[in-house]
Amino acid sequence: MERTFVMIKPDGVQRGLAGEIISRFERKGLKIVAMKMLWIGRELAEQHYAEHKEKPFFNALIDYITSGPVVAMVVEGRSAVSVVRTMIGKTNPAEAAPGTVRGDLAMDTGRNVVHASDSLQSAEREISLFFKPDEIFDYAKVDEDWVYEK
Ligand code: GTP
Ligand code: MG
Repeated sequence: MERTFVMIKPDGVQRGLAGEIISRFERKGLKIVAMKMLWIGRELAEQHYAEHKEKPFFNALIDYITSGPVVAMVVEGRSAVSVVRTMIGKTNPAEAAPGTVRGDLAMDTGRNVVHASDSLQSAEREISLFFKPDEIFDYAKVDEDWVYEK
């Protein structure tokens, strides 16, 4: 099964949307295999968003993501990377489809409530940045036969 990294950003936590967002992944049939609240420091934020280092919005992005606690998760499921990206919607919430997290719950690119890995390679990198192996749990979920056809 594929794993992806998901993070409820500081605005999601401040707006009391953590439960709503986690619930959407649970209801979809995805499995949460790791989760913690943390307050990201600038160094980790810069590593996480290293691909955007030269972008004009980089400093604002680092300020945003370090502005309060976040909820970090590892989410597992069949094609989890693309399924979760589809569920969160486009980067700009004004263009994100209704039914997506950003489409339903956000208004501004700079306050788009959630992060998810954009590829399998990013997922592996981001998971190892935020979680130690012993913080990620391998377990069977009782409804698996009802979520996936054998
Ligand atoms: P993440 O899941 O957070 O990585 O978002 P994404 O993959 O949909 O978008 P991308 O990786 O291109 O950008 C990372 C984050 O930087 C976005 O989620 C926004 O919070 C922020 N960002 C991207 N583009 C802009 C921009 O043009 N202006 C501002 N202020 N922020 C931006
Ligand atoms: Mg991204």
